Amino acid sequence: MTTQALVVSGTSNTVLAAQVAHGLGLELGACRIERFPDGELDVELLAEVKGRDVYIVQSLIAPAGEHLLELALLADIAHRGGAHSVNAVVPYLGYARHDRRETRREPLGARVMAELLGARHLSRLICLDLHSLAVEGCFPTPVEHATAIPLLAEHLKAMPRPAVVVSPDLGGLKRAEVYAKQLGLPVALVHKERLSGADVSARAVVGDVKGKHVLVVDDMISTGGTMAAAVTAVLAAGAVGKVTLAATHGLFVGQAVERLQAVPVEKIWVSNSVPVKPTVALPVEVVSAAGALVSAVKPWL
Ligand code: R5P
Repeated sequence: MTTQALVVSGTSNTVLAAQVAHGLGLELGACRIERFPDGELDVELLAEVKGRDVYIVQSLIAPAGEHLLELALLADIAHRGGAHSVNAVVPYLGYARHDRRETRREPLGARVMAELLGARHLSRLICLDLHSLAVEGCFPTPVEHATAIPLLAEHLKAMPRPAVVVSPDLGGLKRAEVYAKQLGLPVALVHKERLSGADVSARAVVGDVKGKHVLVVDDMISTGGTMAAAVTAVLAAGAVGKVTLAATHGLFVGQAVERLQAVPVEKIWVSNSVPVKPTVALPVEVVSAAGALVSAVKPWL
């Protein structure tokens, strides 16, 4: 009986799971994930887990609740099957933006998600570029923070100069500084106001973008409102050429395609933490995040 660690994939991101297994030199355990006639999930793990460290790869993309349940069911199988440890590799952690309550009428969504996912059988959670590091506080299990920024930055070195890295809001400033350090560029900031879940407005640009090529960086592109507003703001402030965008998580939901088609964008660099639909009619370049996840898992093997 083998005691070698095992990678298991949920249905949300099978390509990345296979890349992670390959990068770690581990077996990708077969599982069967179907539906019972009443719509409930019917999950079976076909690989032997007894005595093994199990790493379940699952991004909590839409439908986030279903993917969360799939992950919890796989973790339960591994636990009940006698795994030595059960670990979740969650490249995109849904609900991470609900890390605080704006009003007393809202839930603390990240905490609820963490309780549903993490409290029971998980030894460790490996995440990629979390919306905020504070989300870790919602989890009872240790969290490993992997980052795809160096992998994305590698492709951005060829950007024309002079250039500046721009954060589309105050919350992303530290992230922009990480990109800027890797690229040897200065940083500027857009003063953003969120009007609703899908709408934002950019008020002003803080820092010098005049006559410079701009790279706007964020953790995610969801409805594209934040990035589109940032592009419009930096061009109004005198930036030159088309704007380059980079984000770890490319969700491209809602009006994202229309919004980003409506502004001058050179390229949009994202990782494969979320599978990008081949139909997305945007200049998207996808970089594999497998290397970042492999580096985060390896020390624990
Ligand atoms: C917000 O704080 C996040 O860092 C992103 O800026 C935001 O979630 C992007 O969402 P959207 O693309 O819908 O503007």
